[in-house]
Amino acid sequence: KHIVLFASGSGSNVENIVRHFQDNRNVTVAGVLTNKRDAKVVDRCNYLNISCLYFNKTAFYSTDCVLGILKSLNPDLIVLAGFLWKMPKKIIDHFPMKIINIHPALLPKYGGKGMYGSHVHQAVKHNGEIETGITIHYVNENYDEGAIILQEKTKVHPNDSVDAIAEKVHELEYEHFPKAISKLLNI
Ligand code: GRF
Repeated sequence: KHIVLFASGSGSNVENIVRHFQDNRNVTVAGVLTNKRDAKVVDRCNYLNISCLYFNKTAFYSTDCVLGILKSLNPDLIVLAGFLWKMPKKIIDHFPMKIINIHPALLPKYGGKGMYGSHVHQAVKHNGEIETGITIHYVNENYDEGAIILQEKTKVHPNDSVDAIAEKVHELEYEHFPKAISKLLNI
């Protein structure tokens, strides 16, 4: 089986997933696609020896370029790991139930446009939540609204900093995202 990853930022989940499947003959990471040429994920792909393709907004929304690449790679699963643009309908329609995303909170709380990265953890702290976590879900045309596949929780203490919350959530991501991918691929 093979998977394609999309990322816009640091790519620590990309690295974790690539390393997780490195010695697994059943899964290949066919490539990483990014909308940010200077994102850290590009460097990570270089040292991980994974092909990384950059596309801009025009290619993504006004041409079939990315769809064409995906069709030729023919992935069993498309994994959004910190990818910040909305998936075009054409791509979603072409890969039904094959596109998943990870969100660093317990959806439906703290989802939607603008709710990414530290913004999420800031809001969690600001509202005095006693728990937060991760949500892995299918991707539909609205941000963070597709059917939920799994959620994992962690406790938030009143004196946790935003960074401390982020770290706890990342730990959950690193542990559960690769496992969820394996499960969806039936391997
Ligand atoms: C993760 O927290 C993920 O949940 C969210 O974006 C972040 C990406 O982090 N969608 P990284 O780029 O994998 O380090």
